Amino acid sequence: MQGMQIDWIINTQTDPVILTQMQKAADQCLISENVKVPCMISVCLCDDEQIREINRQHRSIDRSTDVLSFPSVTYPSDRTAAACEALLKNEYDVDTGACFLGDLFISVPHIQAQAAQYGHSELREAVYLLVHGICHLMGYDHIDAAEKEKMRNMEEKILSAVNIQRDLPQQTDDEKLLSLACEAMTRSYSPYSSYPVGAALLCKNGRIFQGCNIENASFGLSNCAERTAVFKAVSEGSTSFEAIAIAARTKAWPCGACRQVLNEFAPNMRVLVTWDGNVEEKQLSELLPEGFGPDSMHT
Ligand code: THU
Repeated sequence: MQGMQIDWIINTQTDPVILTQMQKAADQCLISENVKVPCMISVCLCDDEQIREINRQHRSIDRSTDVLSFPSVTYPSDRTAAACEALLKNEYDVDTGACFLGDLFISVPHIQAQAAQYGHSELREAVYLLVHGICHLMGYDHIDAAEKEKMRNMEEKILSAVNIQRDLPQQTDDEKLLSLACEAMTRSYSPYSSYPVGAALLCKNGRIFQGCNIENASFGLSNCAERTAVFKAVSEGSTSFEAIAIAARTKAWPCGACRQVLNEFAPNMRVLVTWDGNVEEKQLSELLPEGFGPDSMHT
């Protein structure tokens, strides 16, 4: 089995170690999909302005994004590359000796920003975006739920084969979580109290959601930083929490409402507070003993 030929277009400085791992992941895409014919793709590593321009020209969407895929094969709706050898062979190019699957554009600034946001390495983000893009070039999509699950399963299969599984939560250290809480604090909207609060919520799947307090002229409608982070996480599909870091000017354990909302999802999670360079930690169950939760109505 030969690997994936990649025609690299590198418009922005990229770590060679990352490129080597990307090549390995691209090879693995063909192995995991069980594609028997030699294949080739073009991968352009670009900046946000370039990807925005491509997005605008080809999809009439005038904004930057992390990855864009342009498959050269039109796959039947229920098939992916492994089951479409004849279609792949239509894309055979004598000069390269491979079937051309299509073009990918990946934004290097997005790799950096998303790695920081998810609390993992740039290497992992780069490999993930490449695998995601190649899956599109192999006929996968995520428009409806069934397709999306098939695509996610294939991505996981490829990533675990190249040993880039999701980070375990413990690998995202507390210092990082605390600094993300401090960063979120800078986005606080608190003109009435002048008491900015930031939060960073670490989910068991490794994702981190930031939140800040958002006040309102109708005071009672203000939302705390912790609940902003929780609602962002839950609405994005992450409901298992490992820890939350909270930053404020003074020591600020979560208010009663936030303790109750956190308790709904993770009664034993860790809660870290930071103020003026200090850090303290407690378990949520210490902050909300005998809390009322989802099981309380059944036992
Ligand atoms: N606040 C939080 O964001 N989290 C808490 O746990 C306590 C209070 C916010 C709400 C309001 O915007 C400001 O702090 C002052 O109460």
